[in-house]
Amino acid sequence: MKKLYIETYGCQMNFADSEVVAAILQDLYELTQNVQEADLILINTCSIRDKAEQRIHKRLHELEALKKKHRTLQVGLLGCMAERMKEELFETEPILNFIAGPDAYRDLPKLIQDSVQGEPTFNVLLSEEETYDNIMPVRYDLNGVSAFVSIMRGCNNFCTYCVVPYTRGRERSRSPKTILMEVEQLLKEGYKEVTLLGQNVNSYCWEENGEKMTFAKLMAAVAEMSPGLRVRFATSHPKDISDELLETIAKYDNICKYIHLPVQSGSNVMLKRMNRVYTREYYLERVRKIKELMPDCAISTDIIAGFCGETLEDHQQTLSIMREVGYEYAYMFKYSERGGTMSAKRFEDDIPDEEKTRRLEEIIALQGELSFASNQRDVGKTFRVLIEGQSKRSADQLYGRNSQNKVIIFPKGNHQIGEYIDVTVTRCTAATLFAD
Ligand code: SAH
Ligand code: SF4
Ligand code: F3S
Repeated sequence: MKKLYIETYGCQMNFADSEVVAAILQDLYELTQNVQEADLILINTCSIRDKAEQRIHKRLHELEALKKKHRTLQVGLLGCMAERMKEELFETEPILNFIAGPDAYRDLPKLIQDSVQGEPTFNVLLSEEETYDNIMPVRYDLNGVSAFVSIMRGCNNFCTYCVVPYTRGRERSRSPKTILMEVEQLLKEGYKEVTLLGQNVNSYCWEENGEKMTFAKLMAAVAEMSPGLRVRFATSHPKDISDELLETIAKYDNICKYIHLPVQSGSNVMLKRMNRVYTREYYLERVRKIKELMPDCAISTDIIAGFCGETLEDHQQTLSIMREVGYEYAYMFKYSERGGTMSAKRFEDDIPDEEKTRRLEEIIALQGELSFASNQRDVGKTFRVLIEGQSKRSADQLYGRNSQNKVIIFPKGNHQIGEYIDVTVTRCTAATLFAD
């Protein structure tokens, strides 16, 4: 059988999509981890920031040497960059044989076939219905412990800086029946953890026979499938983090006490300009509610530094909201203007790059302090950990995560990957907890 190599960039949704793609092509190709022996290379791409796209251009140039060696090698580009740049990419990237946008993966066998016969082919049509819901993804992470399950696609929020609504199209939910079937199958294969995925999972909604399945109800249904199955989710928009959802997370022991709640900025002026539709005060009230219902719940966030017109005062507001919440973890970025978005059209990208860098560095330094302080509070505590693998530092150590999504490293003993064990934290760095 011919061999397929898939390389994935960007968010967890893209990783989940690559597993769907592997499933769609499984009768034609078997997966390989070795790019050198591939007959087909697929690059699943991300457009979120300019840097993400530059990285992919660089990678495609590296692959040119391989293509010179294997004349029959085919290279295809998938994902958000395919959707954003469309056939324009064939001009700058002659290595490409075909391009497929995020809703066109069922068409891949045909796109591949037609491109072999000569001209490059593409399909970048977005769909209002496609959820790939009857496709059982082929898992290629190989750890057999933790899996992603995509429950919805697209985004309707149109935050002014963001390309996702354009690259992924309109929001649509997948049927609960096929989601539960997929989880059932994962349980049979011995998986211990699922992460329910969507750009905005808490706006999940499915109506059938007059009954409405909300995200909270779906989470409860998944949690009830097995007490030994951990349930996680990503990502939630603050506007939709309802009391019903928080009460559901609090109620089930096996729903992890970890919420990723992107704030983006602590300034109401910036939040409004970003079209985030919440205020600083509303966000802090939601955080208070989380802590009230689940004092042990970890919260992480996304932050953008140097958005259009951001003053030093706005920036201080971001630092102060970080301190007020005391985030366990944060993903932090410099604003990167994306063509076609509202902010590119309406606002000037007026913060000089050095100043963006300076603000970002302040944010990163503060988050380092907050993460370290949070980890120090865990020293002496005992956590249940799901063992995920061998530590990179030493063959005698394993690592796993606790419910709060923190990585804990501990001695191997007789323990196996996929087991739960209770460990007591003895020391920490800003990034990791260690247990004896
Ligand atoms: N749907 C998720 C986030 C998806 S993108 C949510 O709304 O929470 C992940 C993160 O990338 C965003 O939260 C934002 O912080 C960052 N991001 C998106 N567009 C960006 C841009 N143009 N420049 C810099 N960061 C950006
Ligand atoms: Fe982008 Fe906003 Fe949608 Fe997240 S919610 S994907 S940041 S538009
Ligand atoms: Fe990137 Fe697309 Fe995900 S732009 S972050 S791969 S939805």
